[in-house]
Amino acid sequence: MNESFTLAGLTFRNRVLVASGTFGYGDEVLGLVDVNALGGIVTKSLSMKPRDGNPAPRITETASGMLNSIGLANIGVQKFIEEKIPKLSLISCAVIANIAASSIEEYCAVLEALDSFEVIAGFEINVSCPNVKEGGLSFGTDKTKVVLITKELRRRTKKPLIIKLTPNVTHISEFARAVESEGADAVSVINTLIGMAIDIRTHKTKLSTVTGGLSGPAIKPVAIAKVYEVYRAVKIPILGIGGITSWEDAIEFLLAGASAIQVGTYNFVDPSAGAKIAAGIKLFCEQQSISDVGELVGAVQAERKLSVIESWL
Ligand code: SIN
Repeated sequence: MNESFTLAGLTFRNRVLVASGTFGYGDEVLGLVDVNALGGIVTKSLSMKPRDGNPAPRITETASGMLNSIGLANIGVQKFIEEKIPKLSLISCAVIANIAASSIEEYCAVLEALDSFEVIAGFEINVSCPNVKEGGLSFGTDKTKVVLITKELRRRTKKPLIIKLTPNVTHISEFARAVESEGADAVSVINTLIGMAIDIRTHKTKLSTVTGGLSGPAIKPVAIAKVYEVYRAVKIPILGIGGITSWEDAIEFLLAGASAIQVGTYNFVDPSAGAKIAAGIKLFCEQQSISDVGELVGAVQAERKLSVIESWL
């Protein structure tokens, strides 16, 4: 049974990755979790300089989910190179560096700083963080900027280039089409949805930044609909993300059109969830006499005439 997946010349052992921001830089869990049972690790977003992120409170639980307003806190690319890359070189699953920035120049500089390291198998570009004033959503909701970022980064790397899209737009498929035409190798669908929570006794917002990004099982049906929409619009592979907690969830994403999936918020509950999900997908396929997990990708049976999404495409 073939579990592997190839993206722009890069072969992932299986179709389960861990999502940016939910697994540190990948090295913290070594010895605790068998990371080599994963298809890949996506690092926390890296910027040129270290960032402290937003003031606390910046995480709050919600029904079946979590709101975060971390604000892209990270150690900066230089410290990542010095302290994390040597440890990551010891693992055999694919390491994808996620990049966030407040200018196009910064995206380019971070990518150029990392491109020559063999252990960095590819890049995921965060144009979708809802928690920062510069960059993030202000780029990700502006198609002209997303196109420019993709074009500039494409010129600078031959490694797989994955653009992580926001669901906080009217039609995510338009953004997917735009980055595909600029040479992106794949899209990650979706980042978090803007949300807000209020303490009814103090009347204060539960996050210091008022709003944050909603993740977890609460967003799973939204994410699946976005994957389905994007699958109908582009030919490049989709990495599906949003509330996955089980192999059954992962298979739903594959059927909707994801070529691979990323486990996010659930890593905070069980850091070995990704490995368990990969094992569950394998067993399911064996039981169903499916010889390649890829057979499931986009295999949903949907009555297209009744789908409103078709009229957007
Ligand atoms: C954050 O650091 O604020 C979360 C990252 C993201 O939503 O892209």
